[in-house]
Amino acid sequence: MVIAIDGPAGAGKSSVARKLAARLGFTYLDSGAMYRCVALTCLEWGADPEQSGEATSTAESIGISFEDGDVLIDGVDVSEEIRSPEVTEAASKVAVHPGVREAMVIEQRRMIATGRYVAEGRDIGTVVSPDSPLKVFLTARPEVRAERRAEETGGDPREILVAQLERDRRDTEREHGALKTADDAVEIDTSDLGLDRVVDRVAALAAKRGLV
Ligand code: DC
Repeated sequence: MVIAIDGPAGAGKSSVARKLAARLGFTYLDSGAMYRCVALTCLEWGADPEQSGEATSTAESIGISFEDGDVLIDGVDVSEEIRSPEVTEAASKVAVHPGVREAMVIEQRRMIATGRYVAEGRDIGTVVSPDSPLKVFLTARPEVRAERRAEETGGDPREILVAQLERDRRDTEREHGALKTADDAVEIDTSDLGLDRVVDRVAALAAKRGLV
């Protein structure tokens, strides 16, 4: 069973999903980390992230796992490498290919079938688990999202905003697994809300639906 937390980059998904999972005693699944693993491997193997065949066979060739908050490719910890700006850019490119998405969705469904999860991403409530009993779509104003990323990475908020708008466009316009709100999702704008307020709200929804 999965509580789905979807939304664009910088809307607060990771912080909210991680904290909510800890509070409810659920397992946290960062689906974006999986696309990042595919992107990192493409860069390391010299495969072109924009080339569907190359990206798909890369995705199908690697084993991604999570262990104590770390992200592993074939048993090797890549938690830090997958957060670099180069990987962020390449992840957005590999994520448009249907073959890559299919490989990731199969793996995500296999994981969430094993227990109680809070999963964050772009397509958890729409594609990975359309029958999820609680779907939340987090949003925030683009400038606020860019500011948050700048605080995390130390980058320039204006440059981050420009790159983010381009990734938002790829996310929303791609044919498969596009970023969109599921019809039955609860939308929360986090622009002016602290992390705890958002987690409280989602936890209250989970309790109301008898999930905890
Ligand atoms: O959430 P994130 O920034 O770590 O995601 C990395 C990339 O993966 C981002 O470009 C969007 C993509 N992604 C996706 O297409 N589907 C998901 N379920 C999660 C992330």
